[in-house]
Amino acid sequence: PLPQPFTNPLAVPEVLSPYSTEGDTDFYEVTASVASARILPGLRTQIWGYNGTFPGPTIRSTRGRKVRVRYRNELPVPIVTHLHGGRTPPEFDGYPTDMILPAGGWSSPHEHPGARYDQVFEYHYPLDQRAATLWYHDHRMDFTGPAVWRGLAGMHLHSDEEEAALPLPSGDREIPLMIADRSFAEDGSLQYPSRDPQLRGERGVTEEFTEGVLGDVTLVNGTPWPYLEVAPVKYRFRLLNACNARRYLLSLDPAPDDGPFIQIGSEGGLLGKPVRQEKIAISPAERFDVVIDFSGFAPGTTVRMRNDAGEGAMADVMEFRVTGQAQDSPKIPERLSDFEQLDPNAAVRKRKFSFQGDRNDEGRMVWLVENHPFEVDYIHADPKIGDIEMWQFSGDVHHPIHIHEVMFQVIGLPEPEDLRPTDIGWKDTVDLAPGDVARVLVRFDGYPGKYVFHCHNLEHEDVAMMANYMLRP
Ligand code: C2O
Ligand code: CU
Repeated sequence: PLPQPFTNPLAVPEVLSPYSTEGDTDFYEVTASVASARILPGLRTQIWGYNGTFPGPTIRSTRGRKVRVRYRNELPVPIVTHLHGGRTPPEFDGYPTDMILPAGGWSSPHEHPGARYDQVFEYHYPLDQRAATLWYHDHRMDFTGPAVWRGLAGMHLHSDEEEAALPLPSGDREIPLMIADRSFAEDGSLQYPSRDPQLRGERGVTEEFTEGVLGDVTLVNGTPWPYLEVAPVKYRFRLLNACNARRYLLSLDPAPDDGPFIQIGSEGGLLGKPVRQEKIAISPAERFDVVIDFSGFAPGTTVRMRNDAGEGAMADVMEFRVTGQAQDSPKIPERLSDFEQLDPNAAVRKRKFSFQGDRNDEGRMVWLVENHPFEVDYIHADPKIGDIEMWQFSGDVHHPIHIHEVMFQVIGLPEPEDLRPTDIGWKDTVDLAPGDVARVLVRFDGYPGKYVFHCHNLEHEDVAMMANYMLRP
């Protein structure tokens, strides 16, 4: 039986404190381990957690201060961590074939060349980038889907001076919402259809799930369909879709007069000005920074966040209960940030990439970029740092496409008039609908080296819808 919706309060992940601070750098430690969580009433669920929790702890950083995170692996399999949305040197980006090995070492019938670290590795994050809603998650070659499903994901909120100067809701009125669907067995254990449950040998999922694994329970910050008591004021929510494959179409019922959602940011940080959105279509890995204004509601009102793309229990996400009274924060300013809209004429090069499924020699589904399964040594593109390029993506089924290291602006699907109202701002993931063609302008800022871009449907990514590009100095 499914858990009752709206019976458990929303949990907010703990903000991690640095274990040390020296000069311009803050040092953190995160341990990935097997842990036990209370997710379903009366049951225990074994998870893989960063510091034993799902979601993992939230890391908060500020531009101008560097972050180092020392990851310790106490899991029975290798890990590798990617700071999604971070502008990070390649050796710290969580390249899929790099591995922090488990205690006792590791061997697998399918070895891929990459860096190897013995149980511990310290990632260096310069974080010289705009304020933005980032997240971190496991990225191990062939097994990202099951590892994230088990719980290896957390939020990373990055700020800067421009953002700090704005009168946005903050403190306990600024809340990350990590939305993730999962399925559970009767005994409370997580269910995932891995071909190899040890996550060592054969990658991928059983045949019925090759399109992607969908859960039948929506968790927000690890709690099924939670409720949150809110004062009749504005709140800022950092929405993240951390599902392996499910897309949500979020709406509010009843809808606030001003909004319903006031979008203030996207994956790459603040928009130039706030934009009212009726609904928010959010695909895996996308983030939306939104304000919801509860000030028009009488105490006692319940506002549901709904999923208009779901049926039955999956049509609900969470509930807000308006209670009490409070002093509201100021109006959302009409100017949020110094936002630069890129000019399509600034693109120095155009490249095209197709994202399509196919059957391999054994008749198994594989997912390909430009008809190639991922290979460590195959480079699809070699953009130059400082350049703006126009990339065009086409696909067969739904593919949320993510480029590491850089941010882009969606300029057409394929024409500007086809754009969805939510495809605005600096993004690092664009949802490609079946048969769509997306055109994006990518600004190649970052550090020289090799990075991946891939489909963020994790069941597609794992069987091998991923490709390399080389960022040239
Ligand atoms: Cu969120 Cu390459 O991933
Ligand atoms: Cu895909």
